[in-house]
Amino acid sequence: MSGLLCYCRAGFEPDLAAELTERAAGVHVAGYAQTSRNDGYVLFHSDNGPSLTHELPFAELVFARQKLMLLAELRDLDPTDRITPIFEALAGRGRHGELMVEHPDSEEGKQLAGLARSFGNALRPALRKRGFLSQKDEARFPRLHVFFVSGTHAYLAQSVVGDSAPWPLGIPRLRMHADAPSRSALKLEEAFMALLTERERHARIKPGMRAVDLGAAPGGWTWVLTREHMRVTAVDNGPMQAELLETGLVEHHRVDGFRYQPVGAVDWMVCDMVEQPRKVAERMATWFREGWCRNAVFNLKLPMKKRWQETLLALDTFANNAGEHDKLTIRARQLYHDREEITVYASVE
Ligand SMILES: C[S@@+](CC[C@H](N)C(=O)[O-])C[C@H]1O[C@@H](n2cnc3c(N)ncnc32)[C@H](O)[C@@H]1O
Repeated sequence: MSGLLCYCRAGFEPDLAAELTERAAGVHVAGYAQTSRNDGYVLFHSDNGPSLTHELPFAELVFARQKLMLLAELRDLDPTDRITPIFEALAGRGRHGELMVEHPDSEEGKQLAGLARSFGNALRPALRKRGFLSQKDEARFPRLHVFFVSGTHAYLAQSVVGDSAPWPLGIPRLRMHADAPSRSALKLEEAFMALLTERERHARIKPGMRAVDLGAAPGGWTWVLTREHMRVTAVDNGPMQAELLETGLVEHHRVDGFRYQPVGAVDWMVCDMVEQPRKVAERMATWFREGWCRNAVFNLKLPMKKRWQETLLALDTFANNAGEHDKLTIRARQLYHDREEITVYASVE
């Protein structure tokens, strides 16, 4: 078996399938997507799995939470011995540096969480004993994934550290903080974790920086920025959480976020306004074209249908209108905490 196995939010399989199909065609690799709605994953079959995974970097995929290269499909597994077929499939495939035993993030898939945990605990030492897995986690070897879709059916796959999500199921575990004004705070926290590298976070998120939050109420994103000790201009007609305003770091402007202009350039602009994606993309582009910000995180709320096409249009609108920059980075992903939306990070640093 050869190709890719990508995880996604349940219900977004057609969008991920459309994305993989178009991107594979774009790099002239033949293949086809196989998926069912609400499964939480997409298989992309291709005779040339290694070249496909190389040509489609994880950082460029929007609807994939995780990108794996398929090794084998294991059907009719014997519940009393699931390990032997895995050994057979791994023969001659070299050593792996970490093991993740996973399941789809779907209603049905979640029932397999217990099996995945206990089987992982049994498989890990057995793989180490056979030399299939390094004695401790090592990033220089590929990661091994066993992906159960039922108790008797699994896929064996591998990922490259640095070209995949580092978290099991591709989901970062973030805890909602008691002081956060809204659950939306998790979206911006995840965006910083998932869309910036560690080095970029260190260099680009600093105390004392100036930020603008468009569509800020009740203040989850502003709260995340103030925790980084930034000074924030929060733009929204709605009310902001009182405690946030008391920090002395936040100025609240009750004006239209599509008209607001900063006084002088700011380090960060973030935007969570609910509007048509192309309208948001155009306004975000204006901020970069006019030099009003150097970094931005913004959400694009997606329509119900043709979400991949709408994503492409909105990202193109942004890129084509953001002005001439030596270096404009654009990364977009449907994050775990995103619902009918994707999150974009843009930077001219
Ligand atoms: C999803 S909520 C934002 C939640 C916020 N990010 C948080 O973490 O608490 C969207 C907000 O955008 C605001 N909004 C929508 N259109 C706007 C506009 N044209 N100008 C300013 N705010 C707008 C709404 O009032 C609403 O508070």
